[in-house]
Amino acid sequence: MEKVKAKIAPSMLSSDFANLASEAERMLQFGADWLHMDIMDGHFVPNLTIGPPVIQSLRQHSRAYLDCHLMVTNPMDYVKPLSKAGASGFTFHVEVSQENWQDLIQKIKAAGMRPGVALKPGTPIEQVFPLVEAEVPVEMVLVMTVEPGFGGQEFMPEMMDKVRVLRKKYPSLDIEVDGGLGPKTIDVAASAGANCIVAGSSIFKAVKPQEVISLLRKSVEAQCKI
Ligand code: DX5
Ligand code: ZN
Repeated sequence: MEKVKAKIAPSMLSSDFANLASEAERMLQFGADWLHMDIMDGHFVPNLTIGPPVIQSLRQHSRAYLDCHLMVTNPMDYVKPLSKAGASGFTFHVEVSQENWQDLIQKIKAAGMRPGVALKPGTPIEQVFPLVEAEVPVEMVLVMTVEPGFGGQEFMPEMMDKVRVLRKKYPSLDIEVDGGLGPKTIDVAASAGANCIVAGSSIFKAVKPQEVISLLRKSVEAQCKI
């Protein structure tokens, strides 16, 4: 079985949005694998961030993998616009997709993006199993380790049970964690089995972001044993 790879994804929510292209370039120079793009609609979460036009603008300046996390009530409405804009990954929330996840996954794939599913801290992990085991499955599960909506919150270690369950059940699945990740929390997440690491404030507030990125990667490579 192929070993899962470490993917370090700085959350651009913590970047200077007025200089998004240069912030993205800076993160790639510092060793980022993906750029995590938090799309919020002010309805699913009490915050409003960016949408397809901003992804499209960034795409003009960067060839990076744009890991889009849709914190929106109607993810289906974003499939076409985001694929046109040049998104790479499309991760929707299971809480708002109970009725149409099969259709959603198929449309995301047909539009040339990589489908993923996210779950909030209060959502039981069992809810994502059917999506991972479907005929056309999601290719990543994002376990939220804070309540979605804002950067800079405290990591919830109790979410690691979800990661452990997933890793045991699906050895080669991409498992992403998002919220409060940094040098102090990475070992717990990596040893539970997370291989895709989103980090906003711990990277952007660091004096040497490249050192944080490399520390996150080393922890995953050393501890996320598959
Ligand atoms: C929160 C977002 C996260 C956020 C993480 O709703 O999904 O991606 O930017 O930020 P930190 O790493 O600062 O917790
Ligand atoms: Zn996110």
